Amino acid sequence: MKSLLSKKRVYTVKNPEGKLKISEGEIDFEKTGIGKNGDKIKTHKGKEFTVVEPNLIDLMGKMKRGAQVITPKDASLILAYTGIPSDSLIVDAGSGSGFLSIFLANYCKEGKIVTYERNEEFHKKVIENIKLSCLKNIEAKKRDVLKKFFDEKDVDMVTLDMKGAEKIVSKCHGILKSGGWLVVYSPHIEQVEKVRSEIEKNDFTQVRTVESIVREWKSDYGFTRPKNKGLVHTGWLTFARKF
Ligand SMILES: C[S@@+](CC[C@H](N)C(=O)[O-])C[C@H]1O[C@@H](n2cnc3c(N)ncnc32)[C@H](O)[C@@H]1O
Repeated sequence: MKSLLSKKRVYTVKNPEGKLKISEGEIDFEKTGIGKNGDKIKTHKGKEFTVVEPNLIDLMGKMKRGAQVITPKDASLILAYTGIPSDSLIVDAGSGSGFLSIFLANYCKEGKIVTYERNEEFHKKVIENIKLSCLKNIEAKKRDVLKKFFDEKDVDMVTLDMKGAEKIVSKCHGILKSGGWLVVYSPHIEQVEKVRSEIEKNDFTQVRTVESIVREWKSDYGFTRPKNKGLVHTGWLTFARKF
């Protein structure tokens, strides 16, 4: 798999064979080959691309999506606010499309991520996405964690992105190491309230809820301003550290 960078966009090509038809023209891989990293290849219209190794974000563009995924702007805050070491044991639910667990596994290369999903169809998608990521440190389990809780103990971090997360806050406290983190992603403020109320009943410290607002700017014809379209709202992240 390779990514082709133009001055405007990136195309990630899974099996570089046959012809790639894009707005910049056509690339005939039978004639040009895909090349190696750093090579330049051109479309029949002469538009040039640099061949690079796909990074995680390029690969995510090729992954299957089922449920709403946690985007890089929110996933990156989890790493930044917890400072989680790269050899951590992390438990995650629900897997959804596996985006958060794959993102975390990519940074915690010496650690392990175990992700739980109750929906059979989503669970299968997660397994396919993990395969595409080539990461070996993620295990996907199919389970309703409200019915049967996680198997893991002495966990460095639990991430929850599922309805009813508040119902297992107390149990998560029980499996966390002292100093370990609980992180709950909630799209609605009513969910944040329920989660915060459960957190207060348990022995946590460093509790905070944050929202990440990212606004992209555009610059053309010599004028610069924020783009008027974009991801306006995703969700809130609530952090709590076991006392
Ligand atoms: C919004 S998605 C998670 C997206 C995921 N964080 C990602 O980045 O791809 C929520 C998922 O939680 C799952 N879920 C809801 N309740 C669950 C439960 N009790 N046990 C396991 N999974 C559950 C849903 O089926 C859904 O796939």
